[in-house]
Amino acid sequence: MNVDKQRPVAIGCDHAAVALKQGLIEDLKAEGYELFDFGTFTSESVDYPDIGREVAEAVASGRFDRGILICGTGIGITITANKVKGIRAGVCSEPYSAKMARAHNDANIIGMGARVVGPGLALEIAKAFLETEFEGGVRHQRRVDKINALDN
Ligand code: RB5
Repeated sequence: MNVDKQRPVAIGCDHAAVALKQGLIEDLKAEGYELFDFGTFTSESVDYPDIGREVAEAVASGRFDRGILICGTGIGITITANKVKGIRAGVCSEPYSAKMARAHNDANIIGMGARVVGPGLALEIAKAFLETEFEGGVRHQRRVDKINALDN
């Protein structure tokens, strides 16, 4: 389903992505989205697994439907998120991948790299992620079920 704009989207980043995250939050708010910011909030160095885990656990718990994670490349924080049971996260550097992460993979988190994408592209990626429904159907559901089975 499309994300419910009344329900906040979880967002978090490491020190490499504070400026991109802040701009993205403002841009998404202008589009009508609510966001809950898990930090970090300054350029002081932090460990991306700490933020990635916190956001991923918040999404996996059902408190949030979707999450956005940003670090320098998007890779480390997305690897972290995928370690949390119930999370399907993918790094996206363009909107097509973000759309397909939803349509085929039912991704509940996307990662982005602040050293990879600029603010305009980040907004397009986030919107593709938030506005695309999982296609479902036997084929895609079977594959997502096989991914989910690895949680156990
Ligand atoms: C921090 O320098 C950097 O390693 C981190 O932001 C991220 O790119 C890791 O995957």
